[in-house]
Amino acid sequence: VHGVPPSLSAKVVGSFAYLTVRDRLPTILTKVIDTIHRNKNKFFEEYGEEGIQAEKQTIGLLSKMRNELQTDKPVIPLTDSLQDAECWNQYLQKHQKLHGDQESVSWFKSPWLYVECYMYRRIHEALWLNPPISDYDVFNEGKTQSFFESQQAVMTICTHLEGVNSNIENLSKNQLFEHFDKLLQVSLWGNKCDLSISAGQDNSQKTSPIDSLVSLQPLILVNDSNTVWSTLISAQTHARSEKTTVRVDIVLDNAGFELVTDLVLADFLVSSGLAHEVHFHGKSIPWFVSDVTAHDFQWTIQQTMASNHKCMSKIGYQWKSHLKDGVWSYHDHPFWTQPHEFCDMAADAPDLYANLQGADLVLFKGDLNYRKLVGDRDWDHTVGFGTALQGFGPAPLCSLRTLKANVQVGLQPGQAEKLTSHEPDWMTCSKYAVIQFYSSKAE
Ligand code: F6P
Ligand code: MG
Repeated sequence: VHGVPPSLSAKVVGSFAYLTVRDRLPTILTKVIDTIHRNKNKFFEEYGEEGIQAEKQTIGLLSKMRNELQTDKPVIPLTDSLQDAECWNQYLQKHQKLHGDQESVSWFKSPWLYVECYMYRRIHEALWLNPPISDYDVFNEGKTQSFFESQQAVMTICTHLEGVNSNIENLSKNQLFEHFDKLLQVSLWGNKCDLSISAGQDNSQKTSPIDSLVSLQPLILVNDSNTVWSTLISAQTHARSEKTTVRVDIVLDNAGFELVTDLVLADFLVSSGLAHEVHFHGKSIPWFVSDVTAHDFQWTIQQTMASNHKCMSKIGYQWKSHLKDGVWSYHDHPFWTQPHEFCDMAADAPDLYANLQGADLVLFKGDLNYRKLVGDRDWDHTVGFGTALQGFGPAPLCSLRTLKANVQVGLQPGQAEKLTSHEPDWMTCSKYAVIQFYSSKAE
């Protein structure tokens, strides 16, 4: 399309995409292999000799893939018979046609977004081809550990929520906004805790998530929280007069502390009456190391319920009943684990697009979702968020993202240059963040 900048790619030597494909992805793959190997005895205990065979063969497939990556081989079609394999293979064919030949669709020459997604899909394939360990989530240990390592912060945030909820009926609109704004920021900074930027190393929340907000405020490069608030308020007014409900969707990112912050925000939204329904969207396969799957979602709520900490377990029970009553619901459309940019959603996943159109506000958590929102392209930093979305806009939407990849739009003239002069890696060090809103209605 005319005027659309190129995709970020590892073909730009020295770029963050290049370093990711050269260093970080192989490190993640090696960890995956180690984890499977370390669990050999467990597989043996559960499945006998068959378990050992599965372990060996899965490792074989993964080592082969690591070698393909490191020697910049062409990306090859998937061979499993899972439902989305066809879609991946068609996507590959389309790219090969577009770029002329097979060789150009290689690990380093392809768009970064595509190869990075592809690696996680190939990990899934390797396991899937080896029953009985097909359903083994190789990232589960890390996700569980990061949840427990953030326990103190989880308790703090649950205690905070309980305090807010206990007095929620008596709050003025301004006070309600202040609480909303705080919890939105807690959920934003929760995104620091992903395990893929750290290649699986501990990256849990150690400090108090509430006390640190003031000092983090200047690091929010774009802050549209006022517009997010007014969107919710007008949705509420509209719902009252039309006798309908307000629905907020949260497109989740990482399990562990980040998920807790998202659940806390969602709890506040329904407890305050700002929303009547929250739809959570997670991943249907293990993804980008720490992304939330259905299992992680249920497990986190179970763990919260089972806590010895009184507030935490009370809140956990509340979450369970939100799910039971249908106030909250969990969804995992396969589109979220495909490589597409979100501007393709209307054409490639029309059911999901139509579903999101039913929301009054969609919150997109994290870096990968941001990359998909703006197509992971080398945009000028002053290009408007609406332009970079390239027509995507099923509902008013807001990205809550800490910056981990070199793409950022919607900045003021000069803002990026100033940042670059002080901190050349401002886009990738996950120190900065955005609360970036867009609605086609505002145009
Ligand atoms: O460099 C970007 C990255 O590490 C990618 O692996 C991925 O896009 C992202 O960060 C993961 O972060 P998040 O969990 O916030 O999507
Ligand atoms: Mg993630």
